[in-house]
Amino acid sequence: MAKRVLVTGGAGFIGSNIADELIRRGYGVTVIDSLVTGEKKNINPKALFIKGDVRNPRDIAKCFAKKIDVIFHIAGCASTIKSFDDPAADLNTNVLGTVNIINAAIKHRVPRLLYASSMTAYGVPDSIPVRETMGTRPIAYYGITKYAAERYVLATGERKDIGFRLNTTAFRMFNVYGRRQSLTNPYQGVVSIFIGNVARGETVTVFGDGKQSRDYVHISDVANAWIGAINNPESYGQTFNLGSGIRVSVNRLIDIILKNFGRSRKNHRIVYKPARPGDQRHMQADISKARALLKWKPGTVFAEGLRDVIEWAKGN
Ligand SMILES: NC(=O)c1ccc[n+]([C@@H]2O[C@H](COP(=O)([O-])OP(=O)(O)OC[C@H]3O[C@@H](n4cnc5c(N)ncnc54)[C@H](O)[C@@H]3O)[C@@H](O)[C@H]2O)c1
Repeated sequence: MAKRVLVTGGAGFIGSNIADELIRRGYGVTVIDSLVTGEKKNINPKALFIKGDVRNPRDIAKCFAKKIDVIFHIAGCASTIKSFDDPAADLNTNVLGTVNIINAAIKHRVPRLLYASSMTAYGVPDSIPVRETMGTRPIAYYGITKYAAERYVLATGERKDIGFRLNTTAFRMFNVYGRRQSLTNPYQGVVSIFIGNVARGETVTVFGDGKQSRDYVHISDVANAWIGAINNPESYGQTFNLGSGIRVSVNRLIDIILKNFGRSRKNHRIVYKPARPGDQRHMQADISKARALLKWKPGTVFAEGLRDVIEWAKGN
């Protein structure tokens, strides 16, 4: 019988795209999502949907009516800014929510747990590109909770007292972009925020001088890494960077987006405001570990991936 994967956060940007790909490949999927930022229309109709909150163990228990073989724990507060505005909410969802998922995995003897960690775990890196062996000193509250949850997951994978082996993997995802990333939520990814601004003819606001750079990885590449790792023992107990390995400045990103809309800085207003707390200056992933152990490589060229999101945005 096909394996069943519980996708937490399966109504959100990353979770819903991964759930679609799991279903396309023949997996059964159960989704739990509180719909706080996720949307019902993102949930694959073939998935079993439980509306619930990972902060609440009773909601999580409902997901186990059908046997779960794998958990993809993707639900989370995904915003650095919100983590400073409301640190307790960020802490509860990202850390307590993860602890609740781990408890459920142990109770139901789920042998496989994969976790959505973040490049924010690194904070200000010693050098770039960053490798998984480098120090983790998160500077955003969000990065602290994502890293703490990562440690809970991986430390549980080391436990020998739970009566079975829980094989864990954490993905430190860099800037993921693609269809369904919210065009209206100012707390989501910078790619979709800027595309939404330009599409609606609004001023684009840059925090900082725009020379800061990010590593953008397409959601289809991210989905391939997650799903490809399910049955790969080389990934057990491991952390992987998921990025493209290429760095693009925020200014360059804006220029590419403007060009795709047939606009330029001459006829579209860009304003620069002071950098916000927790902002990392430059980020770039070293992806040699994922290449070697997962046999993974990002296949989407940034310009093409961006064009695809813009096409989707124009239809939305
Ligand atoms: N987008 C990125 O570039 C990126 C990078 C690294 C890590 N991540 C992590 O990936 C995950 C998904 O991010 P995303 O960009 O898809 O954001 P998203 O907001 O679209 O997805 C998060 C989903 O989790 C749900 N959720 C939030 N709190 C919940 C709760 N308490 N109980 C149940 N469901 C809850 C939301 O409704 C939403 O559907 C997050 O954990 C985020 O920290 C994202």
